Amino acid sequence: MRSQPHGEDHTMRPMSRGLLAGLAAVASVTVQAEIGDAARGGQPESLFIDKVPTAQGQATAELIAKALAKGRLVIFGHMGKLTDPKLGDKGFTGDYFMAHWKATLEPELMGLTPEQKPILEKLLWAGKQSIDNNQDRLNVKGVGWKNFLPAKWARETGDLLNTRTGIVTRQPSRAYRHPANRPDELDRKALVRATSAGFGGRPFGEFAMMGKQKVYRYYEPVPLMKPCLACHGEPKGERDILGYEKDGLKEGDVFGLISVAVPVTD
Ligand code: HEC
Repeated sequence: MRSQPHGEDHTMRPMSRGLLAGLAAVASVTVQAEIGDAARGGQPESLFIDKVPTAQGQATAELIAKALAKGRLVIFGHMGKLTDPKLGDKGFTGDYFMAHWKATLEPELMGLTPEQKPILEKLLWAGKQSIDNNQDRLNVKGVGWKNFLPAKWARETGDLLNTRTGIVTRQPSRAYRHPANRPDELDRKALVRATSAGFGGRPFGEFAMMGKQKVYRYYEPVPLMKPCLACHGEPKGERDILGYEKDGLKEGDVFGLISVAVPVTD
């Protein structure tokens, strides 16, 4: 059959309509790509409950970071037991953990100021609570890896501390596993500094604003030890036992930071 009269007209119009519809679809996809992005402006914490005088900002943030680092080491020292598939109840309770953690914290617990005391009490509570919260997980029998390790304890402890104080802690790293450790702008700058060649490995910090609140931000480098290399070591890109790509680092390399922001009063 021959084409219908005015066939060209009939075919051209639908084609250009189709083109427009296509363009509109592309535009709406672009708009939709913004759905799920972070809201602009502002920042998550707005009520800072426990504040310290400016002069105590650095020491307080340092205290929290050191206590988290030491708690991490207590967990680290028990990882063999905690990942033993043959054991059920491991007796790694909040009380057990607390006794070991507190023993390592003696220097930090001396000479606390009246403003630091409630913060440290809440931190100790948070650290113990996060172990208690994980009992079901830790005591599973017949499973080695239980998705519990020092970084998770420090993250969950930091969340609980934040709940009761407003203090913000994070563990940004070269390649974060947990989304809560996504660095903010200052964390990222601190990471670049702490992972650059020639960095001496010493903690550092600065005053900054978090929303409308002045805070002291402190960064404690987290170096890798031998057993950490199973996941964060070489060869870079090879999958670790959890399926993440390894980071290609060596013993002693800084993988991340314990980042602590303490609100100050003036
Ligand atoms: C079994 C693999 C594995 C080993 C071994 C391991 N990590 Fe990780 N690391 C992870 C996972 C998974 C997370 C995320 C934990 C979470 O927040 O739930 C993580 C998180 C971290 C973070 C926080 C940033 C992030 O990536 O979310 C730091 C810092 C870190 N690890 C350092 C270490 C250090 C130091 C060691 C040795 C003491 C170590 N890791 C051993 C898997 C591992």
